[in-house]
Amino acid sequence: MTEILIRNAEKKDLPAIQRLLSTYFLDMEELEPEDFVLAEKEGKVIGCAALIRDTSNENTFLELHSIAVHPNLRGKGIGTRLMEYLINTIDSPEMPGAQVCELYVRTTAPGFFEKLGFITMQDAEKLLIWEDCRKCEHFEKCAQHAMKYFRVS
Ligand SMILES: CC(C)(COP(=O)(O)OP(=O)(O)OC[C@H]1O[C@@H](n2cnc3c(N)ncnc32)[C@H](O)[C@@H]1OP(=O)(O)O)[C@@H](O)C(=O)NCCC(=O)NCCS
Repeated sequence: MTEILIRNAEKKDLPAIQRLLSTYFLDMEELEPEDFVLAEKEGKVIGCAALIRDTSNENTFLELHSIAVHPNLRGKGIGTRLMEYLINTIDSPEMPGAQVCELYVRTTAPGFFEKLGFITMQDAEKLLIWEDCRKCEHFEKCAQHAMKYFRVS
């Protein structure tokens, strides 16, 4: 199989990211291209994911957004490689020298995140983290599973 490169995105990658996300009717959610990491094969963007620092309910936390892999290349470990790249490059200002990793996601693909070690959050905890969930009239029948990942090494 041709080598797949995982790299940080740049401004020039914007059209390729938008194209990939639109395959799944996802949008940029006000993210910048530089918030993304990309999977690239033969010079083409075939996967993307963004990790950003959010603030909500007076908490600051890392949240994963907009992960997508090209439809023809799903199930080949590319999503996992994007996530491992992100998880392994997180810096912890609180504990220099230690690898502390805590991140959150709201997702319609909980099975994928479970395989990576994420655990499902109960509704009460979801409401504590995300203010927009608290205000959302669709909260009771929301399709988004709230999940978190925590690791110290
Ligand atoms: C979710 C997604 C990014 C996963 O990327 P991927 O490259 O296909 O995932 P991987 O090949 O690394 O899969 C790792 C494992 O997760 C499983 N998996 C992948 N997608 C899954 C899903 N949607 N539901 C349940 N399990 C899933 C795989 O079967 C694999 O299991 P295995 O290790 O037992 O073989 C990709 O399927 C995708 O682009 N989906 C459409 C967009 C989307 O739903 N994004 C999430 C919005 S938050």
